[in-house]
Amino acid sequence: MAKLGVNIDHVATVRQARRTYEPDPVWAAVAAQLGGADGITVHLREDRRHIQDRDVRLLREILTVKLNLELACSDEIVGIACQMKPDQATLVPERREEVTTEGGLDVLAHRDKVASAIKKLQAAGIVVSLFLDPDEAQIAAGAALGADAVELHTGKYALGNEKSRPAMLKQLQRGGQAVVKAGLVLHAGHGLNYHNVQPVAAIAGMQELNIGHSIVSRAVFVGMEGAVREMKRLIAGPQP
Ligand code: PXP
Repeated sequence: MAKLGVNIDHVATVRQARRTYEPDPVWAAVAAQLGGADGITVHLREDRRHIQDRDVRLLREILTVKLNLELACSDEIVGIACQMKPDQATLVPERREEVTTEGGLDVLAHRDKVASAIKKLQAAGIVVSLFLDPDEAQIAAGAALGADAVELHTGKYALGNEKSRPAMLKQLQRGGQAVVKAGLVLHAGHGLNYHNVQPVAAIAGMQELNIGHSIVSRAVFVGMEGAVREMKRLIAGPQP
C-alpha cells in the first residue's frame, strides 16, 4: 500500500496571512501523525511565503515519521537542506509568480543544476526524489543523474474531466512503469483529493503519495486527524 505524506504548507499559508504564530504547522504535523500520516511534506520556498526555516528545524527535531522537504535547485535552499537533513528532499521547479508548483522539473533543460543539487543532497545523506511530469525522456534523464525516486506530477490528471482523465491516468501508469523499470522508487502527488486518489494509489509500484491542499481543506471542518485517517482509508482501497 502506498504511504501517505501530508503536505502542511497551507497551514503555514494561513499563519502567514497575519504573520503571527497560529495556526502552527508544527501542531498540524503532530495531528497528521496521530491520524496515521506516514510522513510530513513541506516546501521551503525561496520567498518563504508559507513554511519558514524555523518550521523545518522544529519538524526535524520532533517528527518520528519521514520528513520530506520540497525545494528548488537553489544554492541557498540546498545548503539549508544539507544542514537540516530531512529524510528526503524532493526537487521541484519554482517560480515566484506561481500559485503552486505548476509543472514537473525540466531535467533535460537544467541537467547541470539538477545534478549538482542531487550530488550535494545525497552527500549529506538525504534521499533525493525528482518531481517530474510522466514523460519518459525526463524520467530517463533523472535516472541517469542518480536520483533515488521520482514523484510523478498528477496535476493534469487531477484537473482533467471525465473525458480526458482516463488518458491522463494511462500516461501516469506508463510513467510509473518507466520509473520502476529504471530502478527508482515511485511517488506521485499534486491535486490529489478524496475523489481522484484511488486510481493513482492503485498504479503498480506506487510507494508514496504527497497530498496537501485537499487534506488541509477537509481538516478545517473535521480536524486534521480525521482528515488524514479518511485519506489513508481511501489509499488502502476497498476492504474485503
Ligand atoms: N508534491 C509536490 C512536489 C508539490 O509541489 C505539491 C504542492 O506543494 C504537492 C505534492 C501537494 O499538492 P496538493 O497541495 O495539490 O495536494
